[in-house]
Amino acid sequence: APLQIEEVAAVRQWVRDAQSAGARVGFVPTMGALHAGHTSLVDRARRECDRVVVSLFVNPTQFSPNEDYERYPRPLEDDLRRLEAAGADAVLLPAVEAIYPPGDATTVDVGSVAMPWEGASRPTHFRGVATVVTKLFGAVPADRAYFGRKDYQQTVVVRRLVTDLLLPIEIVVCPTVREPDGLAMSSRNAYLSPRERQQALAVPESLEIVERLVTQGERRVEPLRAAALERLDSAEGMEPDYVAFMADGTVEEVEHLTGPTVVAVAARVGRTRLIDNRLLA
Ligand code: PAJ
Repeated sequence: APLQIEEVAAVRQWVRDAQSAGARVGFVPTMGALHAGHTSLVDRARRECDRVVVSLFVNPTQFSPNEDYERYPRPLEDDLRRLEAAGADAVLLPAVEAIYPPGDATTVDVGSVAMPWEGASRPTHFRGVATVVTKLFGAVPADRAYFGRKDYQQTVVVRRLVTDLLLPIEIVVCPTVREPDGLAMSSRNAYLSPRERQQALAVPESLEIVERLVTQGERRVEPLRAAALERLDSAEGMEPDYVAFMADGTVEEVEHLTGPTVVAVAARVGRTRLIDNRLLA
């Protein structure tokens, strides 16, 4: 079973001891409620590193007051079993006060890459993500940190902050893991009723429709966006938030596909917000 660590000083020492012994340390930050998407990051870290540490921390500052911080799932025993099966060496389980010390006053604002898309819909979200990721990198001085492509804009924000704050850690971004029917795995899928779970398939299907049209030669964004929205609107109870087309590696909107482009969708199904994206060649 992975070593359970609660204190920042203890995890920092664990990482440093491993590195002193010549080990390369990989770090997988999560909010728990682990699924095969998360464990794919642990698998990749195990392949590339000698020691793997995972954090389980439901970060209050990346939720806005009307969001699901309180009801976010916290299945600790199941998470620990999955981490043992995945071969994680250590797990950081910090108290909120360990990450946000009394009197805490510092936040990290990444600027323009945090503004559009998810940032427009959730104005304080990326401040919370950037702040906690910076803190976690301070607590866990690993060689590499692993993130999922599922949260595309988050990967752009994290790369930006690591570059700008000169943080000595290498960021690795891993592919999105999907259910057999195509739905991207997400801890929030647990909120979906059986009916909503069926309607949710419109999200990956809207991305597949775009992919198919691009394969057939369409390069104009407007017809591609219209086709995605048509599929989303055909699902009952689905409220699309945005269909974004961005040059890969950026959050800049494009009007024409001239190079690698990411199409990203956000939509609400009932009370549950889903996001997904796909790389278009
Ligand atoms: P969480 O949603 O728990 O996700 C942890 C990591 O798993 C993120 O890098 C996310 O992109 C990745 N992930 C989630 N679903 C995935 C899937 N289906 N396939 C591949 N990777 C997937 O993202 C966060 O937590 C938080 O914002 C965090 C970075 C931990 C900061 O609090």
